[in-house]
Amino acid sequence: MKKKTIQILIIDDDDIDRENYHRLLHQTQLKSIKISQEACGKDGLKAILKNSFDIILLDQNLPDMTGLSILKEMSAHFHTDMPPVIIITGQGNTEVDLEAMKLGAVDYLIKGEINASILGRSIRYSLKNKEREVELQKKEKFLRFTLDSINECVIATDKKGDIIRMNKSAEKFTGFNIAEVFKQPIESVFHILDFKSKNIIPCNFDSMLNTIDRGTSFEKVILQSKDNFEYYINYRVSVIKDNSENTKGLVLVFNDITEQHEIELHFQQVQKLDVLGELASGIVHDFNNVLSVILGTSGLLRRRLKDDEKSLELANSIADASRTANGLTKRLLSFVRNEEQSFTIVEIFHSITNALNIIKKSLNDNITIEATHSGDSINILGESSLIENAIINLGFNARDAMSDGGQILIKTSLIEQEPTFLKNNETKLINHSQNSPNYKIDNKRYVEITVSDTGIGIKEENIEKIFDPFFTTKELEQGTGLGLSSVFRIVNEHMGDISVTSQVGEGTTFTIKLPILVSPNI
Ligand SMILES: Nc1ncnc2c1ncn2[C@@H]1O[C@H](COP(=O)(O)OP(=O)(O)OP(=O)(O)O)[C@@H](O)[C@H]1O
Ligand SMILES: [Mg+2]
Repeated sequence: MKKKTIQILIIDDDDIDRENYHRLLHQTQLKSIKISQEACGKDGLKAILKNSFDIILLDQNLPDMTGLSILKEMSAHFHTDMPPVIIITGQGNTEVDLEAMKLGAVDYLIKGEINASILGRSIRYSLKNKEREVELQKKEKFLRFTLDSINECVIATDKKGDIIRMNKSAEKFTGFNIAEVFKQPIESVFHILDFKSKNIIPCNFDSMLNTIDRGTSFEKVILQSKDNFEYYINYRVSVIKDNSENTKGLVLVFNDITEQHEIELHFQQVQKLDVLGELASGIVHDFNNVLSVILGTSGLLRRRLKDDEKSLELANSIADASRTANGLTKRLLSFVRNEEQSFTIVEIFHSITNALNIIKKSLNDNITIEATHSGDSINILGESSLIENAIINLGFNARDAMSDGGQILIKTSLIEQEPTFLKNNETKLINHSQNSPNYKIDNKRYVEITVSDTGIGIKEENIEKIFDPFFTTKELEQGTGLGLSSVFRIVNEHMGDISVTSQVGEGTTFTIKLPILVSPNI
């Protein structure tokens, strides 16, 4: 293999000295060298920044700059990738020697003591060291790339629990970058909360060691990022040990499981409704039979008692109560309905307008309602009466939350984003595509319907319960608590997603996302 030419730069203002180094360099055993020279600091620095030299012989006492100040500028420019610099001074000076070393010089030589063998050796050692340094940097880079290439988040600490390494994923989820938290204790970036209670979990080096002692594989927690985002994660801690089993630090590995968590929650809700549906459908059926007997008999009674006013009134009450009960069972039936849907194309804004007209009729003057639409017609696969029902339920809830008046806004927009919520409904999607091969769900866009109000809002502790069947904060007779669970069910049947944001005293927004049809030409 051909030996590489060693590029050497001499920076010295003394012509005789420069010539001397020139001569000595040619006397060394270095084979292929190319020598450049500069007579002042400014030109020297310019040459260094412009070219890539293998060795720089730098005079400390230049007319315009000192060797140390050049070193300082170089270290600011090159950081850890400095070309090797040998500082040369007229007389020995320990302070300059130490300072030069600190600034990254590889050797320090005194003018009067330099000969070919000293200079040759110093250059050989410097080159070798540089080679090792480059090799080490390559390994370090490879390790970094490896860590950055894995999806898991990795944070490593030293044996005091101070952070020494973080990969890109860990930076992304914690919101911190390694430069700002290097040598900071682990708890300064790893803020975790209990999965259920959301209480802060105190976390430091010792508590991390405890999780290892507990032998648990993964702990499920909520990670709070620097910008206060919350991610559901599972994490595991391992001890970093050297060959002699000495503890050198900890390595923390964690995964973002927010999406899985949301899917799990969704399925829990679906399951809850399914169980309730099964239970209720049995009761409702028998109950309906009983009710029809009561209704029928009270009708007969009323006819027989038409001359007895007082008894007729009682019979009327029986009939009225039975009718109310019948209304309730109808609602329950529509809620537990389990039959296969025969979905067709539904133009979403058309359904919303129908719903809006019904909601409007139930509003007092102190509540205004408006529906906006992002433009062209948007088709979905579904059943219009169910979609209307869902919007009406949300509208009625909004109305009930604004006894002192306010505004309801129903906004429909096309979102140019992958409908990731379809993951929650993969089986349904497969069924639909099998049952109706002509329909094609768009996998690049979806429709978003928001129903917002300026009402009383929902207390944080209730947010998790509102989709549960029979959860209501309304007075007896004013709410059954079945509205939102029906909406949830309807949205789920339409392969969509529903979420809510609310601020007590300010208002509530329900957001429904539904997949749309790409080719409605059936
Ligand atoms: N827009 C809203 N603003 C404030 N609270 C709301 C809103 N929507 C729902 N809620 C809360 O969620 C609860 C459950 O709503 P849901 O529609 O399921 O039942 P309901 O309205 O109480 O009764 P139903 O709809 O069966 O007549 C409500 O009682 C209320 O506390
Ligand atoms: Mg309701």
